[in-house]
Amino acid sequence: MSMGMGGMGPSGRAAAFRGVDEGRQRQLNAQAPEVVDLRARVVGLFRPYRGRILLTTILVVVGAAIGVVPPLLVQSIFDQALFPTTGGAPDLSLLLRLVLTMIGLFLFSAVLGVTQTWLTSTVGNRVTGDLRVRLFDHLQAMELGFFTRTKTGVIQSRLQNDVGGVSDVLTNTITSILGNTVTVISALVAMVLIDWRLTIIAVILMPALVLVQRRVGQVRARIAGQTQESLSELTSITQETLSVSGILLSKSFNRQRAESERYRVENTNQVRLQVRRAMSGQGFFGVVQVIMASVPAVIYLVAGYLIVGGTGVITAGTVVAFTTVQARLLQPLMGLMRVALDLQTSRALFARIFEYLDLTPAIVDAPDAIEVSAAPGPLGRVEFREVVFRYPDAAPTSRPTLDGVSFVAEPGQHIAFVGPSGAGKTTVVYLAPRLYEASEGEVLFSGADVRTLTQESIVQNIGIVSQETYLFHASIADNLRYAKPDATDAELLAACRAANIHGAIMRFERGYDTIVGERGYRLSGGEKQRIAIARVLLKDPPVLLLDEATSALDTVSERVVQEALDNVARGRTTISIAHRLSTVVTADTIHVVDAGRIVESGTHTELLAQGGLYAELAVEQIAAATIMGMETPARPIEGS
Ligand SMILES: Nc1ncnc2c1ncn2[C@@H]1O[C@H](COP(=O)(O)OP(=O)(O)OP(=O)(O)O)[C@@H](O)[C@H]1O
Ligand SMILES: [Mg+2]
Repeated sequence: MSMGMGGMGPSGRAAAFRGVDEGRQRQLNAQAPEVVDLRARVVGLFRPYRGRILLTTILVVVGAAIGVVPPLLVQSIFDQALFPTTGGAPDLSLLLRLVLTMIGLFLFSAVLGVTQTWLTSTVGNRVTGDLRVRLFDHLQAMELGFFTRTKTGVIQSRLQNDVGGVSDVLTNTITSILGNTVTVISALVAMVLIDWRLTIIAVILMPALVLVQRRVGQVRARIAGQTQESLSELTSITQETLSVSGILLSKSFNRQRAESERYRVENTNQVRLQVRRAMSGQGFFGVVQVIMASVPAVIYLVAGYLIVGGTGVITAGTVVAFTTVQARLLQPLMGLMRVALDLQTSRALFARIFEYLDLTPAIVDAPDAIEVSAAPGPLGRVEFREVVFRYPDAAPTSRPTLDGVSFVAEPGQHIAFVGPSGAGKTTVVYLAPRLYEASEGEVLFSGADVRTLTQESIVQNIGIVSQETYLFHASIADNLRYAKPDATDAELLAACRAANIHGAIMRFERGYDTIVGERGYRLSGGEKQRIAIARVLLKDPPVLLLDEATSALDTVSERVVQEALDNVARGRTTISIAHRLSTVVTADTIHVVDAGRIVESGTHTELLAQGGLYAELAVEQIAAATIMGMETPARPIEGS
């Protein structure tokens, strides 16, 4: 199956400058995903709305049946009321009744039409909405690794553009199919009744048209797949570039023009695909139109031959009636073909949606998972036993990120990890709450393997202050209440006091109602961290994981944050990661990690005495501290 190489032109160029892998990934995505039983699954989406669909069907059929009546009434109006065939003056009372019936029917079918539209649009939009929520829920259940390897924009695009793209099909298909089928069948029946031979002539080309239509549908489905893929790329560019981090990056490297160019190229691709999608099948419909419109002419011709040939049963009335009914067939038939085409086109979109719904989260609770409260060990005990871990997308031949890591954090203890950048410290923090799964060995929480516990109950007992603080674009109070939605104002204040951030918040013009901006950009690094600490305090978990909460700060802020952390750590198991050894000197045990292994363990004094990697790090930092210590008193002297 060759997927339109035309689509690779501009996007291929863009991929080349962003990395080959992405280009390959994209080529893979452009293939319509194979999803089994697509049709059955789409039909399945409507199952909860069976009642409404049945009602819609009845309304459509009743509406179609009513549509037949007015012409009959017209006949009666003429032949019985206006110009009675029995002769005599017009029968005014009959006329009045017939006219009122006719108006009544029109009123009734208008009401039917509105009800039917209401039904189909509620069903269609609810099915779309259900699909969106299902996808959202499912994506949330995906493991952390899925989000580190998938672009946010690509995920967003499936939710918005793909689900949005099938919305029309989900809304309009049912009525369109029902309504048009009823009309087509009634017209066909009428045609057969009038003259079956002419009917055969009128529909003889239909099978061929249906075959061509299927082929057109396949082409269009392919274009639709490419269109959605390009749309997802556009969303990614927007999402990456027009965010605070993205715009800061592009502005600080003067890349706005390059980003505009990237957007422009992808946009041109999108426009081209949209035009192709709109145009595909138009030629086909042109041909269908010509054929259908020519049928009456052919009928006249055939009638002529039949009459001359002596069969002679064809009257002028038959020909006129037949061609009139046949003309009524054109619109609904075209309508049905268009629906069939739309359905085929939407296959590509449905396939993309179901592909995501079929992703199985790599980390799920075991069916017999227990709550942490039912675990055998003491609450707050964390243990690693010979843990080996490799990131899912790392090369299998590379050395593991964590290699035989074992340690115990007893309840209430402070365990610290130090070591060079990239050693695997953050990875330890990810494994404890089972955000990633150990490849070998065991991670235990409260004495039970985390794989036997429900993840929700583990996370309930763990507070994480991560290396990169994330705040929502909302007020400080809202961000804090994320940890505990029902927290009182007094609780917020207490948490912020303990986290040493209350004073700073009160200095903001709007205090706790200050909007922190996208990702918390409105705040300084240290303020963000202390809000994150206050947030964890509100959660009040027995285990605390602190990932380098102080590395980005100067000594004064560090002391403020450190004080906050000491407040938080009291009475909890704390696993902290730090580059600055000053923050871990009081730890019960310090593990020195290098290249995924724990190379030294002990207290600050023990490790210094060992004269290993820790002592080396300490000497470097003492040297740095000395320089800073000399600078500090020097300043006032210079200044005075
Ligand atoms: N999602 C990922 N996929 C693949 N490899 C990863 C991923 N995250 C981290 N790594 C790799 O795993 C190794 C350990 O990373 P980790 O973040 O644990 O280091 P760290 O000790 O916290 O470093 P730092 O002190 O700089 O924060 C690094 O070599 C890193 O490149
Ligand atoms: Mg780290």
